[in-house]
Amino acid sequence: MNEKGQGLDVLLTETRRFAPPEHFKEGAVVSDRGLYESASADRLAFWESWAEKLDWFERWHTVLEWDPPHAKWFVGGKLNVSHNCLDRHLNGPRRNKLALIWEGEPGDVREYTYEGLHREVCQFANALKGLGVGKGDRVAIYLPMIPEAAIAMLACTRIGAPHSVVFGGFSPESLADRINDVGAKALITADGGYRRGGIIPLKENADKALESCTTIENVVVVARGADLTAKVDAHMREGRDHWYHELIADASADCAPEVMDAEDLLYILYTSGTTGKPKGVVHTTGGYLTQVAATMQCVFDLREDDIYWCTADVGWVTGHSYIVYGPLANGATVLMYEGGPDWPEKDRFWDLCEKYGVTIFYTAPTAIRAFMKWGEEWPDKHDLSKLRLLGSVGEPINPEAWMWYHRVVGKERCPIVDTWWQTETGAIMITPLPAVTETRPGSATHPFPGISVTLLDDAGAEVEAGFLAITEPWPSMLRTIYGDDERYRETYWSKWDGIYFPGDGAKRDDDGYLWLLGRVDDVLSVAGHRIGTMEVESALVDHPAVVEAAVVGKSHDVKGEVIAAFVTLKGGKDGDDDLVVELKKHVVEKIGAIARPETVIFAADLPKTRSGKIMRRLLKDVAEGKALGDMTTLADPAVVEQLKAQYEAKEG
Ligand code: PRX
Repeated sequence: MNEKGQGLDVLLTETRRFAPPEHFKEGAVVSDRGLYESASADRLAFWESWAEKLDWFERWHTVLEWDPPHAKWFVGGKLNVSHNCLDRHLNGPRRNKLALIWEGEPGDVREYTYEGLHREVCQFANALKGLGVGKGDRVAIYLPMIPEAAIAMLACTRIGAPHSVVFGGFSPESLADRINDVGAKALITADGGYRRGGIIPLKENADKALESCTTIENVVVVARGADLTAKVDAHMREGRDHWYHELIADASADCAPEVMDAEDLLYILYTSGTTGKPKGVVHTTGGYLTQVAATMQCVFDLREDDIYWCTADVGWVTGHSYIVYGPLANGATVLMYEGGPDWPEKDRFWDLCEKYGVTIFYTAPTAIRAFMKWGEEWPDKHDLSKLRLLGSVGEPINPEAWMWYHRVVGKERCPIVDTWWQTETGAIMITPLPAVTETRPGSATHPFPGISVTLLDDAGAEVEAGFLAITEPWPSMLRTIYGDDERYRETYWSKWDGIYFPGDGAKRDDDGYLWLLGRVDDVLSVAGHRIGTMEVESALVDHPAVVEAAVVGKSHDVKGEVIAAFVTLKGGKDGDDDLVVELKKHVVEKIGAIARPETVIFAADLPKTRSGKIMRRLLKDVAEGKALGDMTTLADPAVVEQLKAQYEAKEG
């Protein structure tokens, strides 16, 4: 079950316990178990009470309509997300509160009050309208981590245009696939973005992508490089491309928010699955905002004077829910940073924490493991005394990384919330409540109030170690896969009747704590990014020299997993080092740098069952350097023995 290097035996012997510190409990948003009790007494009334904390133009008539696997939450309710994130904060002291503090990698800083952010969102919303973008039109966003990313998302929600944000590290081809799948009418991008001292040429990538897109009518380009000394040629195309700053300059700051139905589409975000084609996860308006806002408050114990920093990119769901919508719906001050954690030095994150007095810090285990590797001297150079709460998300956090985070970053003073959730769940599902839950390193502890989770086996029987299962619908759940409801049913709802299958394995200890054990399907987690093995295999097979490819994850001490690719060439030929380089490059061109294989092994044959199915399990044993598992179903056992010898020779 657990292939992610976190053995069950280790977890079972993890006896360290961390009670919420006394000082933390004072004035906490959630200070007792009342929330769990009220949610289990009446789950729908519980969620309704959270929906009531938002601003609605019209109240819903029914909390939930559940026609498995389709849910509708707050049926009949009308609201607008940008109104909830901005306008409703303008009538009190939050008007002049900082909504966004942004630092670019080169050190440039911009700050927006709620009033200022509202103004620019309205201007950009009007600019989009001027380009013919209206309610229901899809807008693709391909931006670096700059304020305009949040502004663009909010402007889309203001006019009721669903956005689809594409991570800036994706290749032109990945961008084109997403634009085409969603049928986007407009694209918002930038001339470039800074990363580790270099510039990612986003507009150049976008231009390449648009060669194979027909639906985009207008492209808005943010002048990021032109901000600074580095001039990037954006190759503006007359009639199609428009500078963001020019559009804004002419736009009115008066833009009434579109009245949206609770179930109107809010955004589509693509994520990897077990097939070659990423899935467009569909999130709607009312339920999503309700759960994101509730979890933001309770899990992060968000208080009025917090400075909150989530280090994710807006291109991933964490950025959507916990950089933009959750914090802003709650009137928080959000720190946003553009670049790499080790630029110019390995203490950039700690420098930012000190400089801005960050109080809540939310990052990923892969980052924590990198910090561990770089050494304690980097955080130790900085005053981190303002930090009061730490969070982790994206993959299982190994107890050693948890302890390091606790000791070196949190100075044994800050509770850690290990939050389990997914693109599909939209918001946090399993997590401690920091002033209530006693934590255990490596355990995400318990379901959030109002969330029903169990562990099942294949047959649907309850077990203590098995597949994670979500037994009741929740407000921020995905509604479908864009344009492919059949795939929605098949992927998430076909394993058991009316129960959601997230694709993760988990175990419950004797005290009822949940320990997430990683994916049980062909989805890898490379530096916390979800990558489907099939996507990488399709990219490899796309190369003219390749006939067949199989990809597996190999444990890695910082990235969690890296990609090992086994490739059969045309005519069974052997490849040389140049071809290895070329194949890696080919995958980067097809998908993006996050999918670059670490190792490429040429295999005259791949281990297959008699019915021709590639046995990735054995390839994983080879890549991990483990003894080979059961080979009785193999058509030709010699194939895998030979690969093992080859792999060992190559890895030295
Ligand atoms: O395997 C789980 C892992 O990340 C997957 C979801 O990936 P994605 O949709 O990209 O969203 C990541 C950010 C929410 C899950 O199926 N995962 C996420 N958080 C945790 C986790 N695994 C263990 N512990 C976590 N806290």
